[in-house]
Amino acid sequence: MICKHVEALVGYTPGEQPRDSTVIKLNTNENPYPPSPRVAECVASFNTEKLRLYPDPVFLEVRERIAQIHGCSVTQVFVGNGSDEILALCTRAFVENNGSVGCFDPSYSLYRVLAEIRGVSCKPVQLKPDFTWNMPAEYAADLFFMTNPNAPTSMLHDPAQVANFCLSFDGVVLVDEAYGDFADQNCMDLAVAAGNRNTLVMRTLSKSFSLAGIRFGYVIGPEGLIAALYKIKDSYNMDMLTLKIGLAALNDLEYMQRNVSRIKASRAEMTAALRARGWKVCDSQTNFLFARPPEGKAQVVFDYLKQNKIFVRYFPGPMTGEYLRITIGTEEQCAALLVALGLCFEIDIYAPLT
Ligand SMILES: Cc1ncc(COP(=O)(O)O)c(C=O)c1O
Repeated sequence: MICKHVEALVGYTPGEQPRDSTVIKLNTNENPYPPSPRVAECVASFNTEKLRLYPDPVFLEVRERIAQIHGCSVTQVFVGNGSDEILALCTRAFVENNGSVGCFDPSYSLYRVLAEIRGVSCKPVQLKPDFTWNMPAEYAADLFFMTNPNAPTSMLHDPAQVANFCLSFDGVVLVDEAYGDFADQNCMDLAVAAGNRNTLVMRTLSKSFSLAGIRFGYVIGPEGLIAALYKIKDSYNMDMLTLKIGLAALNDLEYMQRNVSRIKASRAEMTAALRARGWKVCDSQTNFLFARPPEGKAQVVFDYLKQNKIFVRYFPGPMTGEYLRITIGTEEQCAALLVALGLCFEIDIYAPLT
């Protein structure tokens, strides 16, 4: 009854969403600050009478705003029910039945699951121990998911290296810039450039815009690839309220940028504080840190923090098992994390703080 490949599938495990509101939640890379006040105004003034109508199936109003922000045409913009939906659609639009999906290992673990759901193979490219990459000679896939900055490593792949890869790659490249607003550089130019045949660049409102609770991602790229996504999407993949809220947020870029600056300041402080305590911390270009506690005792620290109601993310495995992924919280949450780590005496990892 159930398809064999679905029966064999190990689904994606999202980070925990505890009901206990006293938990300090640094496990799913959400933004610790609320969305723009324009979002609250938009929800308060929303005329619910309109909900009897279907939403605009091709969401022209938000596409116009996105096109204006990035300097491209509306025909180059697709919007999805979270960027996760866009990733899934790409595996259906750009991967042949006997084809393959590529990505780095480690990177966003959903990519492998999406390939399995689609019933095609996943061809991961192992990152080097310093989390940089060289593409293997003769590497080929129908679609390559290039997370930049990467998750969970938090590091930015050099946009020039990404551009070279896109030029030489035969398949479609989707540059997943879920954390792009927290980075010093990005690859959006590749998507918008005249002559671009194969590169899509994707963003989400879930992180920098503090809107993980509505589901809103978008992707920009060559008209032909974007048209293919429209062809296969659900008729009404974006609901009316989400479109309104998304537009309100996209009309207040300044607010988003102020929050991003605040998070980047906390990121620099947290990085310095952990390094001073003997942690190895990757140079983050995201709203989280990927950090190795002394002696690589990540699992022990993870458990300790959880007991103390501080949730971070732990990914077992040869490349990631000695690291924790820690979302940058509010200044108070960051301080609470450092206090908790300072009290880790009983697990004998840290020298007493002076
Ligand atoms: C690299 C990456 N891509 C995509 C997503 C999904 O984002 P969205 O909330 O827009 O579905 C995430 C979420 O954590 C992510 O880390």
